[in-house]
Amino acid sequence: MHVPDGSSSCGPRTPYDVLVIGGGVIGLVTAWRAAQRGLRIAVADPSPGGGAAQVAAGMLAAVTELHYGEETLLGLNLASAERYPEFTAELEEASGQDTGYRACGTIAVALDSDDRAHLRELHTFQLRTGLDSQWLTGRECRSLEPMLAPGVRGGVLVAGDHQTDPRRLAAALVTACQRAGVVLHRSSVRRLSVVQGRATGAVLEDGTELAAEQVVLAAGSRSGRLAGVPDEVLPPVRPVKGQLLRLRIPGPYAPFLSRTVRAVVRGGHLYLVPRENGELVVGATSEELGWDTTVTAGGVYELLRDAHELVPGITELPLVETGAGLRPGSPDNAPLLGPTALPGLHLATGHYRNGVLLTPITGEAMAEVLTTGELPDVARPFSPRRFAPALQERSA
Ligand code: GLY
Repeated sequence: MHVPDGSSSCGPRTPYDVLVIGGGVIGLVTAWRAAQRGLRIAVADPSPGGGAAQVAAGMLAAVTELHYGEETLLGLNLASAERYPEFTAELEEASGQDTGYRACGTIAVALDSDDRAHLRELHTFQLRTGLDSQWLTGRECRSLEPMLAPGVRGGVLVAGDHQTDPRRLAAALVTACQRAGVVLHRSSVRRLSVVQGRATGAVLEDGTELAAEQVVLAAGSRSGRLAGVPDEVLPPVRPVKGQLLRLRIPGPYAPFLSRTVRAVVRGGHLYLVPRENGELVVGATSEELGWDTTVTAGGVYELLRDAHELVPGITELPLVETGAGLRPGSPDNAPLLGPTALPGLHLATGHYRNGVLLTPITGEAMAEVLTTGELPDVARPFSPRRFAPALQERSA
């Protein structure tokens, strides 16, 4: 039975094929892709299209955010980055909305000799891993980006690390879901329903019960604390706060920066992401402060101080917004995708710094596992069962 309207607060139980808990970009892309495969899908979220994407910068930084020991995650990140152009075209067609994807590349620069040595090491690692990364002198950096500080000591150009606009991406996913017949229940979830050792749906804040054959927990940093989920299945996801600024490059948008500019300044990742519409995003802090989302004077000060060192001209620009969001951090910085040890319950969470980048591949992998029971090869290393070997054996 197809249920076109999820707005009523009571009524009969609704037998969906899949209930997705969480309507951020990960939950929405899961819903959209699964609906395209003919499944009847509901999403429960008080504000679909909200969540961490409202604060994210939208860098698709598979290569420039490469870290030692994360080569497996790199494979997933690259697979998703590769899908972005086609994914964007399909989503824009399905929603009739522009998502702000911009194939502009990224330059990562060093401000002093220590940073330069560190960047050299990263560059060597990138080349050894077979990635496209080009070393630049300080002069070459400034000829590509004339607004960079004169003291820039060198950098790497990563022509394949692009960007998208997460707010527009989220809005387009909401529309694409609605057009694909996904029912949006604009409510929080009180608890997961479990009957005889199987996830069977969820109870909404107003007491409405939604029944589903399968449930996907895609509630970002909140995924680790949903009532009703057995302790041994709760994902080990924690909130990692990021503060971020939005500045405006006054029209008619003379190229202030032509591509994303990044640096490591005093140990923190700093990035400036110039959008085609004149917005300049400056991010981001990384703070382990639990559920706190306060924008602090210290956070804004540090971002502006470091961004000013990198691109002195930013102090002339209007500061139009400050914000803070919560990344869903996981123990190995990689997402948790697919079935859990509780039959009927899947996870799509823990994307940490890569939620926007991993949106296309997550939708594809989750639609595959929801329809066939199997994760595609590229997503298999990210099964939640990697954190619970004992449970894996029990349910095998
Ligand atoms: N990927 C950028 C961030 O999480 O700040």
